[in-house]
This record gives sequence, C-alpha cells and structure tokens, in this order.
Amino acid sequence: MSDIDVLELLGLAQATATEAAALAADMRSGGVQVQKTKSNDLDIVTQADTAVEALIRKRLATARPADGVLGEEGGEADGTSGITWVIDPIDGTVNYLYGSPSYAVSIAATTKAANGRYVSLAGCVHAPVLGTEYTSAAGQAARRNGQELHVNEGVPLHQALVSTGIPYDLEARAQVLADFASLAPRIRDLRLVGSAALDVCGVAEGRTDAHVGRRLPIWDYAAAALIATQAGSVVRGARGGPPSLELLLAADTHLADALEPLITDGGIKE
Ligand code: IPD
Ligand code: CA
Ligand code: CA
Repeated sequence: MSDIDVLELLGLAQATATEAAALAADMRSGGVQVQKTKSNDLDIVTQADTAVEALIRKRLATARPADGVLGEEGGEADGTSGITWVIDPIDGTVNYLYGSPSYAVSIAATTKAANGRYVSLAGCVHAPVLGTEYTSAAGQAARRNGQELHVNEGVPLHQALVSTGIPYDLEARAQVLADFASLAPRIRDLRLVGSAALDVCGVAEGRTDAHVGRRLPIWDYAAAALIATQAGSVVRGARGGPPSLELLLAADTHLADALEPLITDGGIKE
C-alpha cells in the first residue's frame, strides 16, 4: 500500500460526492418518504439514503475495485488495497425529510491503523442545497469551495459558540441534556444543526467554535474530522483518546481543554 496518492483519493471523493449530492437534491425535489427505520423509530432511512449510497459504491468500485467500503446503509465490504472508503450518503436525514438545507454527503478515504482504527487520508463533505463543498487530505489545507479554512483560535470558554447533536438513542439523549445543562451557563450559546458532518466542518470554518458529539459512528465524521484537523482543530474523544461513541470533541486545543472537564463526566461508554 505504498505510494498512496492522497490527492487522487481526494479527487475521487470530490467527484463522487458531487454526483451523489446532486442525486440527493434531485430526489428531494420529487418528494421524500421514510422507507424503513433502523435502531429505533426515530432512526429513519429514506429511499434517497439507499439510492445515494448505492451510487457512491458503484462509482468507487468502478474507479478503485480493490478498495474496501464501509457505508452507513450498506455495511462493510473488505478490499485488498489497504484503502477503505467510509460513507454517509446523507448526513442530516431528518433535515432532508423536512426540507431543511442542512444535509450533506460525506465520503472519506481511510486506511486502518494496527489497532483497527480508521485513519482518514482524504475527505469531502458536500451540501448541495447550501452550495458548500468542504475538502481536505493528509498534509493538505482544509478548504470550503476552494478557500482555505482555519478554526477560531484563542476563544475563551465564556465566548464559545458550541454545537452539539441529538442522537437517536434515548439514553444518549439524556447525556446530551446533561451536556446542555453543564455548558449553557458557561458559554456564549449552543447550536443544533442536525448534521454532525456539517457541525464538524462548522468548527473548521469558524462558523462555530466547538462541536460536542455523542454516539457518532465513524461515517458521521471520517471526512469532517480530517477537514477540521487540517483547519487547526483538535478532534478527540474522552480522556485524551480518539473520537468514539462516548465523545467527539472538536475545537481549538485551548477551548477543547476548557470544555472537556464540563462534558465528559458520566459519558456514554462504548
Ligand atoms: C445524524 C446527524 C445528527 C446527529 C445524529 C446522526 P444521520 O446522522 O448527524 O446531527 O445528531 O447522531 O446520527 O442519521 O442524519 O445520517
Ligand atoms: Ca450521519
Ligand atoms: Ca446518514
């Protein structure tokens, strides 16, 4: 797996996400219905989630047949190249259902570390209705529509604008409410967008100062975490570890250090 060309991977991620995002937007204009539910009744899948992931898998398999794929809707298929594509066909499906513009296709090219964790090499988050494409690759700048991105640095806790998300899991919602209660008196304000990928990209571009994510699987952030990291954010989990179901915390390092003691206590365990 030597000589990985991360820019080639990024180009494929961009081209595929552009086409996939156009399909999602096109399907939305024809109306949308819930096709099925997953972990519980709140965790919905629309026909577009399925169709968009199928398109992405087809394009990636044609371009790079030896790569593996992990997609939210279609599961994991091993490859032989050492590259695994991690896909969320529509991040923000509930927004999509309601006609909100805050949804995005997320595609990341990753490699697996010895400990089994996915390490992102290139990623693209494309929100067709917002008209925004976020990109980055290992060693490269983070960009929105080609413009370089930087996180907000040196923001004190009391001036921090912090986004979070609402998990489908009801037990995890209790943790988010605890986060709200702990954070609200100490920060500038909280934001709920409804797309973890766009939330993490929001930190990258300074639209918010930090994101606190709970119960996020890898496809929610494989692309966005790379984009935020390359924009100068730390993206980490609880107790200095990597992001996990328990916690994903993205912010400039000083703000992350200030936020972490307020939010990790009693967190969701893997
Ligand atoms: C969801 C969104 C949401 C987050 C949920 C995710 P989906 O992804 O990212 O913001 O709070 O935890 O599951 O289901 O729309 O792909
Ligand atoms: Ca998602
Ligand atoms: Ca999704």
